[in-house]
Amino acid sequence: MSFTVAIDGPAAAGKGTISKAVAAHFGFAHLDTGLLYRAVGARVLAGADPVAAARALDPRDLESDALRGPDVAQAASRVATDPAVRDALTAFQRGFALRSEGAVLDGRDIGTVICPAAQVKLFVTASAACRAERRWKELQANGSDMTLDDVLADVQARDARDAGRATAPLAAAADAVLLDTSEMTVDQAVAEAIAIVAAAR
Ligand code: C5P
Repeated sequence: MSFTVAIDGPAAAGKGTISKAVAAHFGFAHLDTGLLYRAVGARVLAGADPVAAARALDPRDLESDALRGPDVAQAASRVATDPAVRDALTAFQRGFALRSEGAVLDGRDIGTVICPAAQVKLFVTASAACRAERRWKELQANGSDMTLDDVLADVQARDARDAGRATAPLAAAADAVLLDTSEMTVDQAVAEAIAIVAAAR
């Protein structure tokens, strides 16, 4: 039987780090679903039609470092408001969730829409100030000259669009466990997430 862990939350809350660590710990496959929307966003920035780009998405398109930048993140959050784009990406995500070794999917709507029957649902969050600072440090390490204020504005704009959209908005599932990482180290957050998954196995 498959075992699915759904991890949702706002931008830069630590979902990616936690998801990778949980997947490595349990030997599960991991899908960062934000990359699907980023890949579509990147195609749209290059002139493509969003729905056509989503339908034509190839998992090999997800392996580009260029998808990590803030322009692509904003483009992703814009295409993600289109129900037809979301529809085109649903089957791939649901198929991935059924991987026989178990799967961790992280995103915005995994526990609510993509995998409502997931065995574990986590909603990972942190204050906007904490999330912006973490993302800013990451960007600085990669040579970006964005200011902390720019990064905070970026994160807040994306959260507002993601939480406010009509289709599959960013929201915690009613049965999700909330994990606020504002006051936690990465190691503490990972340990907590692993303990929650272990208790459900
Ligand atoms: O997680 P990440 O920051 O890479 O996601 C980029 C954007 O993709 C988000 O801001 C959101 O608009 C969209 N997204 C989504 N549903 C998901 C994952 C990401 O709408 N499951």
